[in-house]
Amino acid sequence: MIERKLIGPFKQLLTMNNLPVNGPLNDNEIEVFEKAGILTEGGCIAEVGLFDTLAEEAKKNNCSIEEINSCTVAMPGFIDPHTHICWAGNRANDYSMRLEGKTYPDIAKSGGGIISTVEKTRNANADELAFLTADRAKRMLNDGVTTIEVKSGYGLTGSEEIKILQAIKKAGNFVQADLIPTCLAAHIKPYDFEGSNSAYLNFIVNDLLPEIYEKGLANRVDIYCDEMAFKPKEALDFLMKAKDMGFELTIHADQFTIGGSEVAAKVGAVSADHLEVSGIREIKLLAAGSVVPVALPASSVGLGTKFAPARKLLNAGASLAIGSDWNPGTAPMGDLLICAAILGVFEKLTNAETLAAITFRAAAALDLKDRGIIKKGNIADFIAFELNDYREILYNQGKIKPNIVWKNGIPVK
Ligand code: NIG
Ligand code: FE
Repeated sequence: MIERKLIGPFKQLLTMNNLPVNGPLNDNEIEVFEKAGILTEGGCIAEVGLFDTLAEEAKKNNCSIEEINSCTVAMPGFIDPHTHICWAGNRANDYSMRLEGKTYPDIAKSGGGIISTVEKTRNANADELAFLTADRAKRMLNDGVTTIEVKSGYGLTGSEEIKILQAIKKAGNFVQADLIPTCLAAHIKPYDFEGSNSAYLNFIVNDLLPEIYEKGLANRVDIYCDEMAFKPKEALDFLMKAKDMGFELTIHADQFTIGGSEVAAKVGAVSADHLEVSGIREIKLLAAGSVVPVALPASSVGLGTKFAPARKLLNAGASLAIGSDWNPGTAPMGDLLICAAILGVFEKLTNAETLAAITFRAAAALDLKDRGIIKKGNIADFIAFELNDYREILYNQGKIKPNIVWKNGIPVK
């Protein structure tokens, strides 16, 4: 028999329902239920309403009740649409060099950067990587992140990229959060690949992606489009081919040089991520289509560079999601709520816009239609903070974490 369980009462329940995926949001548009309850059924949401009314029904039907005795604000579980949490080693040395004034491209040219993580990750076996990834994902789940996108991209040979994607899959068995894998074999051309950028991308398309598809290791493909990685033309050709093979697309765009967001718009990518140097033209392109822009403020904090133009994107009518970009190089922080709070205050985002960016708009950035909103039929992923008013979540700048986290209706914290 499918288990039915009523959870509550919550002082405030933010459903994030009935809000548009694009454009600015005001706080008074958020649906806030007082004294609310959530009825779950087999890991999904069956009903949302007044706790006392739902409790009467529940008692009549012998349905179990998980009573919340503290004063709490509940909302959908956070969704992180962009991480690189499958890696070994660390890059404290790169970070120290940045503190001394060296730039990310300079450090990459002098033997640090992505390649140094590739070496350490190649030296770890799949079990070690699965353990490291699960450990990071558990920390995120504890902070309320119930869905986590995870990219490969520190292997950069066929077998190493497969090893990483298998490690991500295995990590998913050790943590209750959902891990959404993405192939980022097109992170950079590795030093030991003999041939041009195009030859490397062709190798990915012809040899690697069919194997990934066949083994069901990922249905999303990413590419790093930038001066240090792949040119817009190369990225466009590559993504077109990946699309023809049935993959969903995303792109690291406009981080140091523009071009990637235009590729995203042309190819119909689900999201375009980074956007620190996007200008008016890029903002217009993103606002005109259905690509979800994803800001990665921890990368700006990690590099000491400017933030993506989140306010301008929303004002132009685009959507906006926020990811942690957790990786050992540019974004070692790995705390989605702190990232979101920081971007919010610098870019002047309302509570509604920032919370949307890590819930239903982040779900849109991953093309996931069953989460990010507390409504009937969605999976029962939600979190509760021991607070009186939802505005205290961002006011505390990420310091106060949820005290309860439910994944598929089950408390996991
Ligand atoms: O999203 N910019 C490219 N990729 C990552 C960084 C990877 C790394 O430095 O290890 C990013 O910032
Ligand atoms: Fe990234």
